[in-house]
Amino acid sequence: MQHIYTNVTDRTGFFEGNDPTALARQYGTPLYIYNERILRQRCRDLKNMVTYPNFVVDYSAKANSGLAFLQIVRSEGLEADAMSPGEIYMERMAGFEPEEIFYICNNVSQEEMQYAIDAGVRISVDSVSQLEQLGRIAPGHQVAIRFNPGVGAGHHEKVVTAGKETKFGVDPADIPQVKELLKKYNLKLIGINQHIGSLFMTGEAFTASISALFDIARQFPDLEFVDMGGGFGIPYKKEFGEAPLDLKELGQAMDKALYQFAEEYGRQLTFRIEPGRYISAECSVILSTVHAVKYNQNRKFVGCDCGFNVLQRPIMYDSYHGVEIFREKDIPSENEETVTIVGNICESGDILAKDRTLPEIREGDTLCILDAGAYGFTMASNYNNRLRPAEILIRENGEVVLIREREVLEDLMRHVIGLKDL
Ligand code: LLP
Repeated sequence: MQHIYTNVTDRTGFFEGNDPTALARQYGTPLYIYNERILRQRCRDLKNMVTYPNFVVDYSAKANSGLAFLQIVRSEGLEADAMSPGEIYMERMAGFEPEEIFYICNNVSQEEMQYAIDAGVRISVDSVSQLEQLGRIAPGHQVAIRFNPGVGAGHHEKVVTAGKETKFGVDPADIPQVKELLKKYNLKLIGINQHIGSLFMTGEAFTASISALFDIARQFPDLEFVDMGGGFGIPYKKEFGEAPLDLKELGQAMDKALYQFAEEYGRQLTFRIEPGRYISAECSVILSTVHAVKYNQNRKFVGCDCGFNVLQRPIMYDSYHGVEIFREKDIPSENEETVTIVGNICESGDILAKDRTLPEIREGDTLCILDAGAYGFTMASNYNNRLRPAEILIRENGEVVLIREREVLEDLMRHVIGLKDL
């Protein structure tokens, strides 16, 4: 096997001694691969980022809700947030207890809210109408409220979830109404929460939002927890030396704010965060096979089997993912060239990586798409009636286990009902 261009997975020992081209052959491509050692390390990074004692990391399962994945996260002592009954269900399947699950819903039906009540999980609502809905169906219940702290952040406008242009959170101006409803339905406000957006690489917006959230918390004297949300970024351009988020510096700034606020508030509140990406992105890659290489109107295209049905982030947010190249045969690539790497889906937007300068890629090469574990498989689809890929896990001892079977054609007929009279 040739390592044609592999500066990240080599450095991190991602494959733990396994040969990626052999994995591609054995399990087929496209293939999601997870590294258990890196996943566990990311969980520990965040658990230990502050010294404040009552600090809980709720893993945000929307980033990756694979069963084995959740089981590992739980074994590291993290709790979890959920955005839907499906996520609550998967978390329960993975062994999370109801009290370890925080359901943060947005515009949900009475039935869905009832599901969460019956499941016994903590519930956060994010509008006055949803607070009233909860009050109507479960007077006297415990509730948390998501506020909009007025400060947002994120890698793309689609993922900024606080500030002026967002559907999320209760506007602090509505606090008088919130208080009336809490009283009217005898609801017990146990916590407040926020999530400012996804992927910040410096801590300023996050720390500013915490202080805005604390201003809100001051108006509610009996809180048990304050949840500061997720959004902790990872460097997608690490091959160019992009620095990681400085967790130590951010942790110190948070510590200062947390101790100070707890003292002022007069009790050892629990502070929570809800990271998804930081925990799940870097422990995963996708292997994909190159099936065609061609010129079209002077642009060189490399066509592989990782379309946006497999990884949606590039088409959805113009996101960058590093690409490495492995070759089964021992033939080196002499020249670098600028290519556009595309998938096999019927849209011109099906571009995985645009204008990348890489060593020459050939038919049959195995591409390795980096940092695919967050919002990768969870956003995969059956578009074009393609089958969702398999997932494998490389255990800490290097052993490889299958954690999700590749779909088969028959799966496309599940839940489908044809007409009998035609
Ligand atoms: N908490 C709440 C309420 C959220 O909505 C989210 C993400 C998180 C926590 C976790 O955020 P993280 O730590 O992963 O940044 N699909 C997009 C990202 C969407 C984020 C949605 N909410 C992407 O691929 O970049």
